[in-house]
Amino acid sequence: MEIKKTIQETRECVKAWREKGLSVGLVPTMGYLHEGHGSLVTKAKQENDRVVVSIFVNPMQFGPNEDLASYPRDIEKDRAFCEKLGADLIFHPEPEEMYTSGFCSYVDMSVLTEELCGLSRPVHFRGVCTVVSKLFHIVQPDRAYFGQKDAQQLAIIKRMVLDLNMDLEVVGCPIVREEDGLAKSSRNTYLNTEERKAALVLSRAVRLGEKMVSDGEKDASVLLAAMKAEIEKEPLARIDYVKAVDGLTMQPKDMVEASMLVAMAVYIGKTRLIDNFICE
Ligand code: PAF
Repeated sequence: MEIKKTIQETRECVKAWREKGLSVGLVPTMGYLHEGHGSLVTKAKQENDRVVVSIFVNPMQFGPNEDLASYPRDIEKDRAFCEKLGADLIFHPEPEEMYTSGFCSYVDMSVLTEELCGLSRPVHFRGVCTVVSKLFHIVQPDRAYFGQKDAQQLAIIKRMVLDLNMDLEVVGCPIVREEDGLAKSSRNTYLNTEERKAALVLSRAVRLGEKMVSDGEKDASVLLAAMKAEIEKEPLARIDYVKAVDGLTMQPKDMVEASMLVAMAVYIGKTRLIDNFICE
């Protein structure tokens, strides 16, 4: 498995595969890979002849007071992880390779980006959509793989692909959790021992919400109030949002219905964590 740092080298490699009639899967990541990413690579391996993993901490999707500088990075560990899972190529560009001097083109979506994380992270999804469309143009994959943990991101990317007639399939993969329930995230590494324990309040709230739905709760405000009360029991937790929205449009829902997304962002100390579930 090779690491390519330039767009041109990556394109040449993918072109050679294409000439042999091979299909290509792309797993876009910001690195510091964990089993959540691993599940995407494994799925991509099952469904494609070749798999590209992009590792790029995208400055454009971080706000001015966010964790761009401290975002964890370990390319050697990531290389070994990808190699073990059978990925064929890592695309690992520098910011200057992706954003050349004078860069001024953006993919800016509305509606879906204006709810949930978009409210507290106003520039985030513009950065995500821009970099993901660049990655799609560079790699031109048949399929691209994203985790359901970032449910809003997944819905936005699916909509972007539809709206802009991008010729690929976007595949969503289930949330991968630690044994105690915490959703896997590169940002879990920021948590100290006490915060790590406190962070379990997110998955506890998810389980409570799922149980209420399976027990027949129909009123979204009752569901959300119970989940918020559960989170508020934890002194280290500060709620950014807990909301029930349509799983495709991200618009708020009053009544519980199939494919509704219940999503939350909660600060544990300074670390902002997200989690969610979809109503069956
Ligand atoms: O989910 C992520 O890790 C990032 O938002 C993505 C999709 C790789 C774009 O930078």
